[in-house]
Parts: sequence; C-alpha cells; structure tokens
Amino acid sequence: MATAFLQCVDESCRRRFPLNASEYRCEACGSLLDVEYEMAAPDRAALLALWQQRKSSTGIEGQSGVWRFREMLPFIAAGRSVVTLAEGNTPLVEAARAGDWAGGVRLTVKHQGANPTGSFKDLGMTACVSQGAILGCGVVACASTGNTSASMSAYAVRAGMKALVFVPAGKITAAKLAQALEFGAMVIEVAGNFDQAFHLLRSFAKELNLYLVNSLNPFRLEGQKTIIFELLERRGWRVPDYIVVPGGNLGNVSAMGKGLCELRRHGFIDKLPRLVVTQAEGANPFCRMLSAGATELTPVADPQTEATAIRIGNPVNWKKALRSIRATDGLCESVSDAETFEAKAALAGDGIGCEPASATTVAGIRKLRKSGTIQAGADVVAILTGNQLKDPESSLLRRSAEELARQRVSVEADAGKLRAALERALK
Ligand code: F0G
Repeated sequence: MATAFLQCVDESCRRRFPLNASEYRCEACGSLLDVEYEMAAPDRAALLALWQQRKSSTGIEGQSGVWRFREMLPFIAAGRSVVTLAEGNTPLVEAARAGDWAGGVRLTVKHQGANPTGSFKDLGMTACVSQGAILGCGVVACASTGNTSASMSAYAVRAGMKALVFVPAGKITAAKLAQALEFGAMVIEVAGNFDQAFHLLRSFAKELNLYLVNSLNPFRLEGQKTIIFELLERRGWRVPDYIVVPGGNLGNVSAMGKGLCELRRHGFIDKLPRLVVTQAEGANPFCRMLSAGATELTPVADPQTEATAIRIGNPVNWKKALRSIRATDGLCESVSDAETFEAKAALAGDGIGCEPASATTVAGIRKLRKSGTIQAGADVVAILTGNQLKDPESSLLRRSAEELARQRVSVEADAGKLRAALERALK
C-alpha cells in the first residue's frame, strides 16, 4: 500500500499537505507542490511483466497508456475507476530525413499528437480530472493557449463536470477553439495574452470554487510523467542521449524530469538522458534565465511567436523545470519562428506532421548540433506535443507562393484542360 501526499518543491521547506489541499501552493513559502508517495520499493521485474501483460487486456489498464503504469501514480487507489479516453500509447517513430537535416543525429519522435484530443495534455488530464472527481468538483477551469482547453473540455464533459476556459482572444487556433466549444465548455476570450488570462483566472478560482487544471495542478504532472515510462519501455529501457521537449508553462519538462528521477530511484534505469527544453525566441524566459545563470526567472512581458501554443512569458512551473534540468544535466535552446517552420518542413519530409510548437524541438536540435553541443550520431528523441491538424493555417500560410503554385492546381471540369494542367504539373 502506498501513501500519497502533496509536498512543497522547495528543498528548504518540503512541507507536506493532504491530497485534498484546496490550493496547489505551499502555505508556508508559496512554492508549488508535488504529489509524492511513501511506498515499498517496487518489484521491478514483476512490474515490467505486469505492464507488458496489460497491453493485451481490454480493461482500463490495458487501454490507457497512463493507467497501464498506475502503480507509479498511486494517488488513486488500485481498482478505483478513473476518467479516461484511452490516452497514451502514442507512436515512437524514426525520422531519418529530419535527423539528417538537423545535422546527422539518430532522431526518433514520440508523437503526442496521436492522443484522443490531439495533444500531450490528455495524459495529464485523465489524472487530474480523475482526482477532481474524487474531490467532488463541479466546475473545472483553465487558462490556455488552446490544447489544455480542448483536452480539459473533453475529460470534463465525460466526468459530468462544467468546463470554464480562459483564452487569449484571437491568439489560439480555430481548431483548438472549436474543440472546446464542441465539448460544451464556456469559453471566456480575454483581451490580453495567456499570462494575463491565467492571472485573472487564478484571482477568481477560490471565490468561485473552481478546480484548476493548469499545470500548477500536481496531479496533472503525474499523468504526464508516464510519457517517459511508455517511451523507455518501447525502447527496451535503453536510455537515449537526449530527450527534447518544447517549453511554455514548463509543466511537461517538469513532469518528465520527475518521471525519470523516479525510474532511476526505483532501479528501472541506471542513467538519465539530458533533457532539452526548446522555446521560441520571442517567448523564452527560461532559456534566458539558464543562460544568465540566474536563480530567479524574469518574465517576458510581451511574449511573441507564431507558435501560439508556447506564447507564454511567465511560466508557472519554472522552479520544477529548473529541478528537471539540474537533475539531468539538461539545457535550453531558443529558436526563431523561421527556424521552427524549416524544422516543421523537414519533419513533413518524413511524413510526420505536427503543430509549430512541437517543431521547435527539431529546430533546437539542429542549432545544438551546429554549436557542437549535440554530437553527430547522438541518439535523440523529440517529443512532438501536438497534432498537425491543430494548426492547419500555419501549414498553408508558411509555404512560399512558388511552392503553393507548384503544388496547387485549379482546373475547370474539362478533360482536355485537366490533361494539359497535369502534363505541366508532372514535368
Ligand atoms: N506544445 C504544445 C503543443 C502545447 O500546447 C504546449 C502548452 C506546450 C508545448 C508547452 O508545454 O506548458 O508544459 O511547457 N500548451 C498549454 C495550453 C500552455 O494551454 O494548451 P508546457
């Protein structure tokens, strides 16, 4: 039996709180909280066999790539039901051409866009909405650049909860907005950026008794850490040299670092990959902090990037992210939007589509190869966080007029004219 509790992330504080604490901030020092456990050391061999065996079961633990590993997130007791859409189980595929383009690395991508609502958020949402159901929450809420809101709305409606979403007006893609609306959420479009929307939402959360599912919710990160279990299991527990992930509010890198450290502590792996966070040049407070060697984050007041998912200037999880970077000897790289769209095109050459934020990973790998930080032939996994169809406008608008003219041919419904057009096109 495991005992689960919340614990302050600050090393000099480490206060503990019960799982039903009403806020996800330490009362004493204001830092964020982790979900932690007191549990007997897991029997590695038995768990590895159990996780494999579940793959062929039709129960929740067989269907969901999160709950297949439920022994590693025992804040929900064994056997207790969860709110799930069979998330996870996402592909890990080689991207040989993109790896060459990036400067000659052995590149594989873990495509989180294959999740039920099209992004990695589903891994976290199944965990935190399940906990919300246990706590008896009526209204779940988030501020979002689009993917969190799409995911939350789906899991909330499934759990019979109301969903309230704050988004920066005009700064989320139509596809993401459509998802939240279709799942029945109330969408508040705030005339400001994500950071302002998030700040406003937090100021109302207590008064309105809202259950916040932004990544300050530590249960969400418990779900997201399972990406590491799935990835390493698929690789036969062979640890890559680097795992590269885009950073916005910095929840994902925090969750991945926690997952890696837990696996090492319990003897599943004996070394750690270096975690690399990529950010857009115009929204890169974490990269700036690391390169300045600072110990506090200075927010970017007016973040700018066409990768709207990561247009965030004041990431709430920076302390946890810093812990992940320190634990894994990790690093951060910023990339321009132009570099991001080149990387997106390189991935497309392998038949792999993703949204712009996800492509910052491959753009970052290329820069780190150029600077010699990443060696030729390195074994690198990029986490593609969102589906190509989340932002089809960017795929269209970023192609040059010449490319489009070559690829798009309009003809009248006339066989002769069509033949002439095809002869030109296939020349
Ligand atoms: N990639 C995509 C596609 C995202 O949607 C996000 C964050 C990130 C990367 C960054 O992840 O915040 O954990 O560092 N999207 C949030 C949202 C902020 O509201 O959908 P992070």
